[in-house]
Amino acid sequence: MDLPNDLSRQYVWPGEDFTRIPDWVYTDQWVYEREVQRIFHGRTWNYVGLEAEIPNAGDFIRSNVGPTPVVVSRAEDGSIAVFENRCTHRAAEFCRELTGNVKAFVCPYHQWTYDLRGNLQAVPFRRGVQGQGGMGADFKLSEHNPRQLAVTTHRGVIFASYAHDMESLADYLGPDILREFEATFDGRTLVILGHYRHSLPGNWKLYHENLKDPYHATLLHTFLVTFGLLVAGNKSLMLADPSGRHGVMCSAKSDASKIAAEDKAEMRAFKEGMRLADPRMMDFVPEFDSPWSVTMATIWPNLIVQREMNTLGIRQLIPTGPNEFIMKWTMFGFEGDTEDMTRHRLRQGNLMGPAGFLGLEDNEAIKFVQDGMLRVPGGEHLVKLDPGTPFGTSETLISESAIRAMYRHWREAMAL
Ligand SMILES: [Fe+2]
Repeated sequence: MDLPNDLSRQYVWPGEDFTRIPDWVYTDQWVYEREVQRIFHGRTWNYVGLEAEIPNAGDFIRSNVGPTPVVVSRAEDGSIAVFENRCTHRAAEFCRELTGNVKAFVCPYHQWTYDLRGNLQAVPFRRGVQGQGGMGADFKLSEHNPRQLAVTTHRGVIFASYAHDMESLADYLGPDILREFEATFDGRTLVILGHYRHSLPGNWKLYHENLKDPYHATLLHTFLVTFGLLVAGNKSLMLADPSGRHGVMCSAKSDASKIAAEDKAEMRAFKEGMRLADPRMMDFVPEFDSPWSVTMATIWPNLIVQREMNTLGIRQLIPTGPNEFIMKWTMFGFEGDTEDMTRHRLRQGNLMGPAGFLGLEDNEAIKFVQDGMLRVPGGEHLVKLDPGTPFGTSETLISESAIRAMYRHWREAMAL
């Protein structure tokens, strides 16, 4: 394939269907900038935090919508505001702490001061000194607020949007995805167990794809298949919403001893006879109204909700360019959890995260994919599995129909 000429760049989708995805989708700076504009800053609800992180008036966290830094704060009246973390004077990222409690936000550079809703409150020496200097008489504080985003919350989860006429979150998710969301966020009050964050050397969409790709889960992850968490032949479902942007990978844990010999032979990751030194790691205490022991929800464009037996977590995707993104994890439990349950959630949390028993392998696979594209450029990916289901929900794990559905949506959103 010829490399595109830089002076007449072409973004042409190969073929009529979605069974091939070109590398430029993942590596091109112009495509990335268009994603920020049309997707993250467009008609989407972006996850920004949990209400449990800002319980009291004046509490705030720093977060992101796409790469854009925002402040999420609890105002005096209990409402939540989300606004850009960019001083309207000289563009400084004025909120410097990751989390805290304040009466107002003061930019460290020239002390321009914003209230808890992000309204510009005060400008030092606005009238100058001894009648000289300062702002003109026509300067109005209210015309210089940082951009404020629309905010919605559901079951303790906070979303923000640059579009101020968004549909409700329920309509945005659709009934199937909403049902899975509410199975995890079941109405109990959330308790934060901890945070971690790391960068990943790959395109942000590869993380969505990873969780819309149940095929890999049966092949890559020794831990998953050996201990029966997700095995070809398990009761499972790869759910996609009608738009294709959201999905939930669902699986019911099975007894590893019941896996058919022929299926084991196909899975090199299956390690017969491997045992855990601490078998409590795999205990599943039923607590959710759901047939699934594992669900991984991909909520477009920046949220992953992990319910892996009893370890619960949020992953927020923060792209920093086409070739890298940051993953911010927030692990949680519920008010009313016993001490034992909290220990269990934390212990089981070792499955995931930057060095998790199975999270590690996904992180590395994503790096391998990006490396492959950057070092042997100009190619395309093949996503042809399960041609009987061209798009959307599939009941077999050996399918790529949810990935195709996502790209059908992506092309529409990108107008490409
Ligand atoms: Fe995986």
